[in-house]
Amino acid sequence: MPVRRTSMHGQWSSRMAFVLAATGSAVGLGNIWKFPYITGENGGGAFVLVYLICIAVIGIPIMMAEVMLGRRGRQSPINTMRALIADERAHGAWRLLGWAGVAAGFLIMSYYSVIAGEALAYVFRTAGGMFDGATADGVRSIFAAFTSDAEALLAWHTIFTALTMVVVARGVRGGLEMATKIMMPALFVILLLLVGYALDLGKFDQAVTFLFWPDFSKISANGILIAMGHAFFTLSLGMGAIMVYGSYMRQDTSIAKTSILISLADTTVALLAGLAIFPIVFTNGLEPAAGPGLIFQTLPLAFGHMPGGSFFGTLFFILLVFAAWSSAISLIEPAVAWLVENRGLSRVDATVRVGSLTWLLGLATVFSATGVTVGDIAHKIAGSVGLSTFAFNGRFFQMTAFGLIDYLTANIMLPLGGLFIAIFAGWVMAKRSVQDEMDVGNRFAFGLWYIVIRFVTPFAVIVVFLDAIGVVPWLRALIQR
Ligand code: PFF
Repeated sequence: MPVRRTSMHGQWSSRMAFVLAATGSAVGLGNIWKFPYITGENGGGAFVLVYLICIAVIGIPIMMAEVMLGRRGRQSPINTMRALIADERAHGAWRLLGWAGVAAGFLIMSYYSVIAGEALAYVFRTAGGMFDGATADGVRSIFAAFTSDAEALLAWHTIFTALTMVVVARGVRGGLEMATKIMMPALFVILLLLVGYALDLGKFDQAVTFLFWPDFSKISANGILIAMGHAFFTLSLGMGAIMVYGSYMRQDTSIAKTSILISLADTTVALLAGLAIFPIVFTNGLEPAAGPGLIFQTLPLAFGHMPGGSFFGTLFFILLVFAAWSSAISLIEPAVAWLVENRGLSRVDATVRVGSLTWLLGLATVFSATGVTVGDIAHKIAGSVGLSTFAFNGRFFQMTAFGLIDYLTANIMLPLGGLFIAIFAGWVMAKRSVQDEMDVGNRFAFGLWYIVIRFVTPFAVIVVFLDAIGVVPWLRALIQR
């Protein structure tokens, strides 16, 4: 059994600090911006049910596994994997898990900061009274004008990236702990207030039915994949973010209890956001499947009409930016920690490099906001080298760069990362090491988790993947013949 390691980057000051930081990572744009719009796009109830099942069966067990790996290795995910490979005499290829996570973090951060930048712009727009008394059409056209202004998007993207870099450069503990202690509860309260407002709108029942009445004819195999991908995304799993936070965790903190607590808090915030937004959608005859602009086209309407709306609206967008901020930090922390460990860079140096790269990648999303698809770009490139006869019209070519990056990361890279985390914890590591690190007092609880992480979770992830590429329906047809 290896001796207990300590992290060169320090430790959280208390048990609560880990919970706050990890909740800060989990609760973000995923809950308030993404969950409502993908729920709207995928038909509501059945999608929400699949998402909740994925949180319980896949998300929580993998969170426990990922935190456990981080705390055992006590380094950046890349070096944690290297250390655990040595401890457990595992195959060197497991190192790829750390690298894939860093790549996913870069890709997600590239668009995350563009959307967070939009939220930042909306702080000033709401404060300036832009939405007072606005109509649904008005709010929609304000958003359309904003997203077709690449310069404005670029400016806000730059500001948000810089904000994230400031905190990461100072070290994850400094400042972040304080910020999450106040901001998280405040966000929660203002969401409750919004739900209270929505309760009065008349179409609250319709929203509840839409969110919680499962109609399985409305969800496709791809919808199920998106629901599972979102369970990973919203809990920050499968790329090393929670692993790196686990590496700063004190030895006396319970991995099981904190993982459950974090997941519950995260899920509650998402459901509250849904309950706030859909009554506004239905009352104003808006389109639930409006896409990534949904919150920017619904919430300003509510703020434009409720008493004290510009005050609450401003506060809401400020808190949303904070939630995004505490998530963005964890997206680049794995890469920064690795640069500090392996290249001997100072935190400031490492952060500047990582932040510059994600900023650059973010330009792809800035320009996709104006509607340019991957196919358009492929056409241009092919045309310039004389291949203009190529037809770029497959499913992925019709996506924007943002759509493609989001699909690749949330629905493929994170679930694959999570799958391999489960396999590493369940099959590659010795049970003794796992048990020693998890330190669950209750043997029955440990046994249950161990069965789930070995069998249930990997099986569920694989089935959803196979279903999405059409293998499950094919098998079913084969059996029925
Ligand atoms: N969980 C964050 C959210 O819901 O907004 C996004 C995220 C953060 C995903 C960190 C992945 C990650 F590693």
